[in-house]
Amino acid sequence: MHVFQPLPVDTLEFNPFETIGKDWALVSAGSKQKANTMTVSWGGVGVLWGKNVAFIFIRDSRYTKELIDAGDFFSISFMDNEYKKALNYCGSHSGRDVDKIKEAGLTWNYKHSIPFIDEGKLVLLCQKLSATRLTEDSFLSPEIAKWYPDKDMHTLYIGEIIEAMAR
Ligand SMILES: Cc1cc2nc3c(=O)[nH]c(=O)nc-3n(C[C@H](O)[C@H](O)[C@H](O)COP(=O)(O)O)c2cc1C
Repeated sequence: MHVFQPLPVDTLEFNPFETIGKDWALVSAGSKQKANTMTVSWGGVGVLWGKNVAFIFIRDSRYTKELIDAGDFFSISFMDNEYKKALNYCGSHSGRDVDKIKEAGLTWNYKHSIPFIDEGKLVLLCQKLSATRLTEDSFLSPEIAKWYPDKDMHTLYIGEIIEAMAR
C-alpha cells in the first residue's frame, strides 16, 4: 500500500478539462466487503453550499451507482497515463460480471473505510451532499437528448471533498 499525504484542496493545481475530461478518473464506492470502480470523464470540482465539492454524472445502468446510492461516500482517483489501459478496462466492463480491480491490475486502498485506488496519484474523498437524476424535461437544448437514446439517464452526485490526498 502506498502512503498518501493529505493536502489542502486550495493548493491543488487542477485543470478539470484536462484532468477529468482528457485523462479520466476512477470513481469508487462501497465498503471493504464490497467495492467497485468505474471510469468517468464527465464531472468537475467547485464550490457550493459553502463547501469545496466534486460532482460526477453516473448513468442508471452502472453497478457503481448501486454502491454510491447505498452509502454516504465515494472517491475519485486520478491516475497517471500509464494506467490508461486499466481506465479503458474499468470503463468497458461491469463489476457485476468481473472483478475489475483484479483484471485491470489495480489495488484497493481505504481511508475512513472509503475505497479508492492505491495506484492513484491524486485522490478526492467525497461525502454525498445531493443526488439529482437528470430528466429530459430539464434539458434546454434539443441536442442533449441524443446522449440518451435508451433513456439511461445520469444522476448528478455532488459530494463535499472531505479530503484530498496525493502520494
Ligand atoms: C473514458 C470513459 C468515460 C466514461 N465516463 C462515464 C461517466 O462520466 N458516467 C457514466 O455513467 N459512465 C461513464 N463511462 C462508462 C462506465 O465507466 C462503464 O459503463 C463501466 O463499465 C460501468 O461499470 P460498472 O457497471 O461496474 O459500474 C465512461 C467510460 C469511459 C471508457
